[in-house]
Amino acid sequence: MARRRQIYEGKAKVLFEGPEPGTLVQHFKDAATAFNNKKQGVITGKGVINNRISEYLMVRLGEIGVPTHFVRRLNMREQLVREVEIVPIEVVVRNIVAGSLAKRFGMKEGTPLPRSIVEYFYKSDELDDPLITEEHITAFGWATPQDLDEIMSLALRVNDFMSGLFLGVGIRLVDFKLEFGRLWENDQMRIILADEISPDSCRLWDIKTDEKMDKDRFRRDMGNVEDAYQEVARRLGILPESGPTDIKGPKVMQ
Ligand code: TMP
Ligand code: ASP
Repeated sequence: MARRRQIYEGKAKVLFEGPEPGTLVQHFKDAATAFNNKKQGVITGKGVINNRISEYLMVRLGEIGVPTHFVRRLNMREQLVREVEIVPIEVVVRNIVAGSLAKRFGMKEGTPLPRSIVEYFYKSDELDDPLITEEHITAFGWATPQDLDEIMSLALRVNDFMSGLFLGVGIRLVDFKLEFGRLWENDQMRIILADEISPDSCRLWDIKTDEKMDKDRFRRDMGNVEDAYQEVARRLGILPESGPTDIKGPKVMQ
């Protein structure tokens, strides 16, 4: 069988040429990195779980009218997505102080923010993804002011929806990172949600215990990383509880 053409290999995913023009196959690896590749490891089964979680969240977001690159899941580790031109910006939405925000301002992790904060980081491994402002983004031509308005409004809609969705299954959405892409259709450009949404790109804390259920367990060597990712999937109702036929849908927590 002819080998598929690889378009791009990132730290956690590989993109292959898709079966039709304008599509790509997004393959989720078990590889994990943190602190811009300084820490490397494998989280067994992560690719399979993130493929499912990202599918689920993108489909649900699509249902409320957020345009996404997701087309359909192909197999355990792969999904078909629309090919976009990635805007070279990581869009981070925060509801609770954690991670680099806590460090930057010497704030205590877990402090609720008075309102959600959107931050932008320039995607560059060499530069360690520096924090940037709208001024840098528009002056350097990474996105237009119109693109940014759209990106900001989509990011806040995603935050509102996902905060509620996770709350319903007993999980606090502390913060998360999104990436967007440009899609051309009949000479018209649209900004759509791309990349992935998973415990690799979100901070998820159990509502009762504040236990971390995301990649911080790997970053901070806390152990039980696989279990935490699986528990997120299980609560969302997308992992079988006792067998492959036992998928129940979201489990509402009291
Ligand atoms: P931060 O607190 O390290 O800036 O991270 C904010 C959120 O963005 C957190 O949910 C993890 C996610 N994130 C990524 O998905 N990729 C990255 O490279 C970084 C630094 C953060
Ligand atoms: N995504 C990583 C992190 O969250 C950074 C990296 O992949 O190098 O820390």
